[in-house]
Amino acid sequence: MKKIITGVKPTGESMHLGNFMGAVFPAYQASQWTDSAIFIADLHALTSVTNGDTLREQSFELAVEYFAIYGLDTETKIFRQSDIHNITKLMWILTNVTPYSLMLRAHSFKDSEAKNVDLNMWVFNYPILMAADILGYGIDAVPVGKDQVQHLEMTRDIARSFNKTYNCSLFIEPKAIVTEWLATLPGIDGRKMSKSYGNFIGLFDDEKTLKKRIMSIVTDSLGVDDIKNPDTCNVFALINVFATPERREAIRAKYLTPNAGYGYGHAKLELLEILTEYLRPYRENREQILKNPELVEQKLQQGAKIMNERLDEIMKEVVKLTGIK
Ligand code: ADP
Ligand code: TRP
Repeated sequence: MKKIITGVKPTGESMHLGNFMGAVFPAYQASQWTDSAIFIADLHALTSVTNGDTLREQSFELAVEYFAIYGLDTETKIFRQSDIHNITKLMWILTNVTPYSLMLRAHSFKDSEAKNVDLNMWVFNYPILMAADILGYGIDAVPVGKDQVQHLEMTRDIARSFNKTYNCSLFIEPKAIVTEWLATLPGIDGRKMSKSYGNFIGLFDDEKTLKKRIMSIVTDSLGVDDIKNPDTCNVFALINVFATPERREAIRAKYLTPNAGYGYGHAKLELLEILTEYLRPYRENREQILKNPELVEQKLQQGAKIMNERLDEIMKEVVKLTGIK
């Protein structure tokens, strides 16, 4: 059976619609016919979250959210990255076969460099840890948003480089699974929805917050009787993803009809209704799970046990090939 994995960083209070549609939901769908795992990338979150309690809380919240989506009895291995004992050891070994020139090409590194922030080695080494997260478990495919595609290319380069260096075929070159029709979900200001821009709509937002966020989606200033372009509208971009095809087409028609008496305010209220319905089961599951928090930690440990065993199997080969102990 094909193996898939994905991860989200616990860098915010909650998973947002972009994370969900770009990575988590495709991973959930693929989990129906694959051997799947999903994890809390807490080691990857370390630089942006520099308070221990906050990181612990956000990691726990993300775990609850994963279980709310997958169900507590899921076959999918749900685990915390930092519970995997050998992951940083594998990263160190992969660092040794990763060309410096490859790392210099990473968009994530170039973006941070362009922002002129005080760079630390995390930004630089980030893709190597991500490669370990994937290569270490013999993964075939990784559901991710478009922004992560280059990291997957680097993962393949690193796999090839290790295999060449040690004249073996230990590491599989994984594919990215990208939901092409979604591309990148815009946030309420029209930029990529992201925790770091504070422009997101949370998958588990309560109704008040959901309404507030939807109402503040940025639009142009066309009026209720003007023809509007659904394909450039940030409200419609979300309707497009979350509405049923019938409702989506009905709303599209209203955008395109002159004198329809239908403005962005109306579209926002429809979006609120659509999302409230769509998100309700997830919100209810989360409430249920929160009644029994110990179970969440227990399940995380079960997931980590299996993933530790898998990584340890591969590490046996790595140890043999490299000559370390
Ligand atoms: P963020 O940008 O909010 O910090 P992460 O970097 O933790 O999110 O992303 C976790 C996963 O969600 C990645 O696979 C990423 O590509 C995907 N993702 C994040 N934002 C979006 C978006 N706006 N549209 C589609 N996918 C997204
Ligand atoms: N880099 C990913 C992000 O920012 C998170 C991540 C870490 C990941 N390791 C991974 C995603 C392995 C998929 C597979 O979103």
